[in-house]
Parts: sequence; C-alpha cells; structure tokens
Amino acid sequence: VRRFLATVPASQRRKVPVVVGSGALALLEDDLAATAAGRLVVVVSDSNVAPLHGEPLVGRLRGRGLRCELVAFPAGEAHKTRETKASIEDALAALGADRSTLLLALGGGVTGDLAGFVAATWLRGIDVVQAPTSLLAMADAALGGKTGVDLPEGKNLVGAFHQPAALYADLDVLSTLPEMEYRNGFAEIVKSAVVGDAAAFARLERDTAALRRRRGAPLERALVACLRLKARVVGKDERESGLRMILNFGHTAAHAVEAASGYAVPHGEAVAIGMAAEARLAIDAVGFPAADALRLERLLEAFGLPRRAPEGLPRDRMLAAMARDKKNVRGEVRCALPREIGRMGHAGEIATGVEAERLLAALRGD
Ligand SMILES: NC(=O)c1ccc[n+]([C@@H]2O[C@H](COP(=O)([O-])OP(=O)(O)OC[C@H]3O[C@@H](n4cnc5c(N)ncnc54)[C@H](O)[C@@H]3O)[C@@H](O)[C@H]2O)c1
Repeated sequence: VRRFLATVPASQRRKVPVVVGSGALALLEDDLAATAAGRLVVVVSDSNVAPLHGEPLVGRLRGRGLRCELVAFPAGEAHKTRETKASIEDALAALGADRSTLLLALGGGVTGDLAGFVAATWLRGIDVVQAPTSLLAMADAALGGKTGVDLPEGKNLVGAFHQPAALYADLDVLSTLPEMEYRNGFAEIVKSAVVGDAAAFARLERDTAALRRRRGAPLERALVACLRLKARVVGKDERESGLRMILNFGHTAAHAVEAASGYAVPHGEAVAIGMAAEARLAIDAVGFPAADALRLERLLEAFGLPRRAPEGLPRDRMLAAMARDKKNVRGEVRCALPREIGRMGHAGEIATGVEAERLLAALRGD
C-alpha cells in the first residue's frame, strides 16, 4: 500500500491524503477509528456495491465503536440525478446529519460524483472521503474535486467543485468489478500517461498482460502514476481554465460517440475511440509523431479497447455533440492534443481548434 499527499488547489490550502493499494480500506478503518469518534459517518453506495462492500464496511466500522449508517441508491448513470441527490439528503436529514457528519463515497464514479455533490451542499459543505471501487473512479473520478449530477439535457450539468478530505483506493475490491467495467478503466489510465507521463506509458506497454489479470503490484504503480499526475494538474488549475483541459484529451471525440450512440457505447470505450481519433488528427494538427499514434493504438488494442467509432452513428448527432463541447470558443470545436506521448502543449496552446469534419473522418479511422 502506498500513501502520499496530493496537493490540491492552493485556494483551498489543503493536501489530500491518498492511499492506494491492497488493504487500503483497512487503513481507512484505522484512520476513522482514530479521528472520527463522535462523528456520524454515512457510507453512500449504489445498489451493486452496497451489499458487496458497503454493508461489510459499515459492520466493521460499527465494530470499532463508530456511529455509521449506510445510504444506498439504485446503480447506474441513469440515477446520477437531482432526484437521487434529494433522496440522499432526505436520508441525511432523517439521520440528523450535522456539520461534523462525514460522507464516505464507496463506489464507482457515479457514487463519487453524487456523494461529493451532496457533501458540497449539505449545510454548505461537509467532508467527503472518496473510497472508489471501480477502476475508472480510482484512476480519475475520485480525485480532482469535480462533483455533480446529470440532467436529461446533458451530463454533469449541475455540480460543484468540492475536494475530498481523503482518498482510499483499495485494489482488493476490484475482484468483484465486472470485466467490462475493469477494461473500461484502462482508457483513463492510458490517457493520463499520454498527457503527462511517458515512463508510465512505457510501463503500461510492458505490464499489459499482468494488468489485465488484475495483478496488484503493476496496478498499484499505474494508479499511483495516474493520481500523481492528476494531482499535479488539478493543483495548478482546479477550475479548468487552462492546464486541466489536457485531461480532456480524447474527450471531444468521445463525447460525440457517446451522445450519438445514445450512451450505448460505454465511457471507457468512447474515450479509447476518441483518443485514437484525436491522436490521428494531432499528427497533422500539432505534429504529434505518427509513431506515437501507432503506439497508442497498439496499447489500446492490447487492453481490449476499440479504436474506431462503430458504423452508423448519426453524423448530425455527432456534430451537435461537438458543437456543445465545453472547450469550444466562439463556436470553434477544440481538442486537447498532446505534442508527443507524455508531453502536453504549453498553457494557451492546449486546446487546438479543429474542423469538425476532420474529427469525424478521424473517428472513422482516416
Ligand atoms: N468527477 C470526475 O472528475 C469524474 C471523472 C471521470 C468520470 N466521472 C463520472 O464517473 C461516472 C462513471 O464512473 P464508473 O464507470 O465508475 O460508473 P459507475 O459508478 O456506474 O460504476 C460502474 C458499474 O460498476 C459497478 N461497480 C463499481 N464498483 C464495483 C465493484 N467493486 N464491484 C462490483 N461492481 C462495482 C457499479 O455498481 C456500476 O454498475 C460518470 O458519471 C462520469 O461522469 C467523474
């Protein structure tokens, strides 16, 4: 298990203790037993994770004398809504939650975003500890402070920045994660290496087989690299006014694929397709080496991830999604393109204007 401090925004003058590895939840229990006596601890989980990991964790925390309750909601992105947020708040009210109450988000990115958003607004802000249980949440969602819910009109339309008080990523809980969810998590791990860590990229190439078998040591290394990079980027630019945009590599195209497929293409697959497309585009646009684009495609393939958009996605829906991208400036579609594997552009040149038609062609593999 590795413990380190992630520097998050200076505005909040806070360092987030991050624990990654097998047995991280046992350390969480020790830490809470030492620091949370007398506080109400509310574990928030979805309906898949609650019986597998939530109930046992609550039992263990109670066994250590803590006042601990479990609040569960129905699993799935479809439930990352204002209604679910309200139901969690109703539960907090019924439990008599106060300023000292601590929320423990135990689950995937949906749980982290929801519980984080509840924590951001309950009594104008209480502590949330992130305990991610999906690979995607461990690699990406749990650190960085973005929280929120979806509206029918779009994902993450309502939310807040609320940094976690601490993060515990226990690799042991990944044993129950479905294979498809596990595979999808690698898209963000690969993305992180492309935008800022060439050595991590080379390790991913070397360790692919072990990583796919969920081997602890390489997985711990990969996640630590990812979280350190994210902490470094978010520490400099919490609100995504510049540098943080680099973490959006692949995402302009990915959002187009997700939206045009009616979210039938899972996020990780869409990010893999999006990265492959934007890397193709980056060859001409910013001189991304063709050899690096090839390495990226090979690595995605080795993780069992797709590199081309599925046939038959409606063009107009893809273009409409690109037109809504948050990085656009005055109607121009922009992509966050790295200059080579492990290196992003300088501030101000991170998001590059691209022709939407060219991006569509890149999604087809041209
Ligand atoms: N806040 C951020 O910075 C950020 C970053 C990336 C993604 N996200 C958000 O994260 C969400 C996607 O995250 P996700 O893929 O983890 O989705 P998710 O939370 O829905 O989890 C995926 C599925 O895996 C199940 N699951 C999770 N852990 C499990 C375990 N250990 N064992 C068995 N089943 C388990 C869940 O119940 C769910 O069915 C999206 O809503 C996205 O917007 C947020």
